[in-house]
Amino acid sequence: MNSFIIKGDIAYSKNKDELVTVGDGYLVCRDGICQGIYEDVADLPDLPVVDHSGKLVLPGMIDLHIHAPQYAFRGTHMDEELMDWLNDYTFKEEAKYADLEYASAAYQMFADGLKRSATTRACVFGTIHREATELLMDKLAKTGLVAFVGKVNQDRNSPEELDEKSAEHSMEETELWLKETAGKYENVKPIITPRFIPTCSDELMEGLGSLAREHGLGVQSHLSENPNEIQLVLDLVPDIEFYGQGYEKHGMLGPKSIMAHCIYSAEEERMLLKESGTYVAHCPSSNLNLRSGMAQIRKYLNSGIKIGLGSDVAGGESESIFGEIANAIRVSKMIQRYHDADAKALTFSEAFWLATASGGSFFGSVGKFEPGFEFDAIVIDDAKQPCPQELSIADRVERSVYLAMDRYAIIDKYVKGYSLSSAFTPSAII
Ligand code: GUN
Ligand code: FE
Repeated sequence: MNSFIIKGDIAYSKNKDELVTVGDGYLVCRDGICQGIYEDVADLPDLPVVDHSGKLVLPGMIDLHIHAPQYAFRGTHMDEELMDWLNDYTFKEEAKYADLEYASAAYQMFADGLKRSATTRACVFGTIHREATELLMDKLAKTGLVAFVGKVNQDRNSPEELDEKSAEHSMEETELWLKETAGKYENVKPIITPRFIPTCSDELMEGLGSLAREHGLGVQSHLSENPNEIQLVLDLVPDIEFYGQGYEKHGMLGPKSIMAHCIYSAEEERMLLKESGTYVAHCPSSNLNLRSGMAQIRKYLNSGIKIGLGSDVAGGESESIFGEIANAIRVSKMIQRYHDADAKALTFSEAFWLATASGGSFFGSVGKFEPGFEFDAIVIDDAKQPCPQELSIADRVERSVYLAMDRYAIIDKYVKGYSLSSAFTPSAII
């Protein structure tokens, strides 16, 4: 059934400054497409009503950057910064995905975790391993979530067991992966995924750029995350003036591309991101955990760059986009306090918009409850945290985010109008 009406307390971001709220409203879905919010029963089309009176009905959260193989060690090994963290822990963990039995068990946990989170759509990194990445796509397809998934490429500066050895071999595996998964899934699609420039030779980057163009695919990668990483890139690629040019010169920037972090992007790099229409995945939890820094999101918003939020598990400890909303706001407050008094901290409304409508636009008409948008929603029983006050719906949304209600109070979730309710039976919630 993907034609129905949900009754409840509805909220969504119309734009970054306006959170629309409708108490006891009716949200109409026909064939997986939102028909808008109705306030009067008399106007309703003849469709079954799912009664979620008193519950919050919100758009699904969008995660523009998450590493599936890092889910297994999230919450551990947080003492080092990026390059040491990659070499000491992350690469060693990712090497295990050569073993399909390990990959199957670990990716099942990832798929289950993402299914019961508030996230409805995600851009996901796998590992260099083609077969394990196909397994990941299979498992994500079964959840009902929408995802772009990337087989990771790396042919240099990687440990033996996570090095594809040559650009040629990395390209062959990537082409085979694209061939094997072409048209296989409705909701899970490939995205070209050079890990980042330090681990990808110029030859590989050139090949991947051409492959992306040939297949009309986007690119996801990391950009300007950590000072040591940036210096390494400038040493490795002497003909660029700043990191972002290393992607641009292979045609990897554009409206189908996502660059994660972008903490140290100066004016020229910001202009390149803006003019190419590239999305920035802002990953505040990871940026804090790995000591990477504080991205100046106000400046990016003012430049008109497209931005969404990313959990960056396991740099970020959790898949919770509610957590990223709260941390995006906290970081922006510290920027205003310590760095730039003119850079106004993000409002709750702005951060909620980043997590829904703004990130959602990467997937098309996604992230708003307006006619013509794909119907992705979460239903939250915020009464699970009793409150003696009469709260407005806007206050209830903010409270549900700060009180991490995505961990225990989601009672249903819809993607393209299909319910994923089986993830929210009491026994499925951990
Ligand atoms: N840069 C290259 N690989 C990674 C990764 O796995 N996580 C983060 N946060 N940054 C990266
Ligand atoms: Fe990352």
